[in-house]
Amino acid sequence: MSEGAKRVVSGIQPTGDLHLGNLLGAILRWVRMQDEVECLFFLADLHALTVDIDPAALRGQVREMAAALIASGIDPQKSVLFTHSAVPAHSELAWILQCTARVGWLNRMTQFKEKSGKSREGASVGLYTYPVLQAADILLYKATHVPVGDDQKQHIELARDIAIKFNTDFDVELFVPPEPFIGGGAAARVMSLRDGNVKMSKSDPSEMSRINLSDSDDMIAQKIRKAKTDPEPLPEDPELLAGRPEARNLLAIYAATTGASVEQVLARFAGQGFGAFKPALADTVVELIAPIRQRLQQLREDGEELDRILAAGAERARAMAAPTLAQARAALGLTRA
Ligand code: TYM
Repeated sequence: MSEGAKRVVSGIQPTGDLHLGNLLGAILRWVRMQDEVECLFFLADLHALTVDIDPAALRGQVREMAAALIASGIDPQKSVLFTHSAVPAHSELAWILQCTARVGWLNRMTQFKEKSGKSREGASVGLYTYPVLQAADILLYKATHVPVGDDQKQHIELARDIAIKFNTDFDVELFVPPEPFIGGGAAARVMSLRDGNVKMSKSDPSEMSRINLSDSDDMIAQKIRKAKTDPEPLPEDPELLAGRPEARNLLAIYAATTGASVEQVLARFAGQGFGAFKPALADTVVELIAPIRQRLQQLREDGEELDRILAAGAERARAMAAPTLAQARAALGLTRA
């Protein structure tokens, strides 16, 4: 990630609490990248509109998520931090790209299938087309790398396909096909504490399935103590974790949280049961989350300062987005080149 002209763009929906999956899969990786390359990070409030929302709550959630990102280490002096509805070019480019994307491509998006569930006919059109808005979010800034968890990979590949088709259809070299930039180990996909086969998610009805940034130290320890496991002791060889998804997940979380490899973690805990491992895991997770939670509590108190930070970020983002949108309009014959 260090050489060449690289630009990083990524976003997060400002709904629900930030959880350990978001932190390990995205945010803490963003924090590391902002020292290496130009980065833009945004709160995807337009994405939040794809399902039923409470407008008063949404306003608060945008500030809350901005505070959570800053508390986690996103520095608005280094990175451009903004709310995506404050940059109308996202919506305009999304419309343009809806005319490039094919229905067949969107039909393959697994997140729409998961999120619409049995009520597909009643889902909003926005829920269906939102991967195209996500493509606009990325292509608008000519991002080369998009740091995300594994669940977003298909959307980034769609953005690539849209970029290539637009460039080919209109014989331009305008959009940069982006690369998904997915972390290794647990960072790719942190799994639920209740079921090692499903990802940790804000939409899981069980609070015990995830660790939230707002959880107290005791709550974190309790959730880890109650996490589903098996009766076997921990093995020496990581290969022997196959078929033990819950054990693999907890080890991967320990490794990602401490920066160690799974091999190193196993070298320390091999032969021991979860009774010994879980308290050690709880300590590392608390050590990661407690200082972020404390900073979040302070940042929350000054909502106006958060608004100022986001407004300044949006101004920078608008200036960066304008040339790409102008080039797209010209390529389409909407304006003269
Ligand atoms: P969202 O808000 O669902 O998630 C934000 C980021 O957290 C990652 N993530 C995880 N990583 C590992 N394990 C997990 N259990 C886990 N759960 C969530 C997600 O992969 C993501 O990186 N559509 C996006 C937001 C978005 C976006 C974009 C992202 C809008 N426009 C443009 C990148 C580029 C979303 O709903 O993420």
